[in-house]
Amino acid sequence: MTPQVPTVKFNDGQEIPVFGLGTWKSKPGEVTQAVKDAIDLGYRHIDCAYIYGNEKEVGEAIKAKIAEGVVKREDLFITSKLWNTFHKPELVESALKETLNNLGVDYVNLYLIHWPLGYKEGGAVFPTDEHGKLVFSDVDYVDTWKALEAVSRKGLTKSIGLSNFNKRQIERVLEIATIKPANLQIECHPYLNQKKLIDFCKSKDISVTGYSPLGSPDRPWAKPEDPQLLNDPKLITLAEAHKKTTAQILLRYQVQRGVITIPKSVTRTRIAQNFDIWDFQLTPKDMQYLDSLDCNGRFCPMTGGKGHKHHPFENDEF
Ligand code: A2P
Repeated sequence: MTPQVPTVKFNDGQEIPVFGLGTWKSKPGEVTQAVKDAIDLGYRHIDCAYIYGNEKEVGEAIKAKIAEGVVKREDLFITSKLWNTFHKPELVESALKETLNNLGVDYVNLYLIHWPLGYKEGGAVFPTDEHGKLVFSDVDYVDTWKALEAVSRKGLTKSIGLSNFNKRQIERVLEIATIKPANLQIECHPYLNQKKLIDFCKSKDISVTGYSPLGSPDRPWAKPEDPQLLNDPKLITLAEAHKKTTAQILLRYQVQRGVITIPKSVTRTRIAQNFDIWDFQLTPKDMQYLDSLDCNGRFCPMTGGKGHKHHPFENDEF
């Protein structure tokens, strides 16, 4: 039987399943099967982005599952994100339309500004100078936000939100917004539990999605000596006590604290395992213990954007 996944209600009324499939790092040749498996297993929320370079292949899976009658478009919650080279307001609509075309849908449920920092428009997605350094754009994300409001009014996305913004940056958007961000997507796991930013979002009625819930062991810049969340002995002990896997503990932790979670996998057994977290509970003591593992352990520090005036992690506490 397919489990009934709880939903979180956005400030605009739309509901998002608290659990979805991540697709960052999923190779185009693997992601179609992964999304098909996920939908068959009961996932109804797929997290995508233009820069993941696989939206067309995600779209093939969605199309196939709709054609088979397994789901209808309206049963699915699809998120995508505006890449950094499209921050100029006049580029936003065409960027979103390209994503819609790749995914093979008429609208997404949620469209996020992927990062507050812009890159030089009009060419490569990672534009570099002759020294291989990224070339920035100084578009202000509040102007990009206005353009997101416009595409949402056109019905190309049901909700709009932010990703990788810090508190001050969210406040700047709130100051000018006529449509409030419905969601903030940030890295989130016990080593970086984001309590302060989540509390701030709660106070503004902005829901939070946590990415890299398993610590993204497949991130391209991972070094062998880096801490490995999934192999943390403290987590393994806790998992054994619950007769669950470490991954399941990490995912249940987020769901119980009201954080929407989007683990990535292209392996059917793991896609199934990650989704099997509805039959147990972490105790308040377990939750406190997991909270106590916070060590500002950020796996995705956006080093390429170092020195950008809109870099979210350089000058602010959170
Ligand atoms: P794979 O896709 O090969 O199955 P995150 O969501 O934090 O970015 O983590 C994704 C990484 O974690 C991928 O390398 C993925 O591998 C791996 N992964 C996903 N689910 C599990 C699991 N249940 N147990 C171990 N590793 C997992």
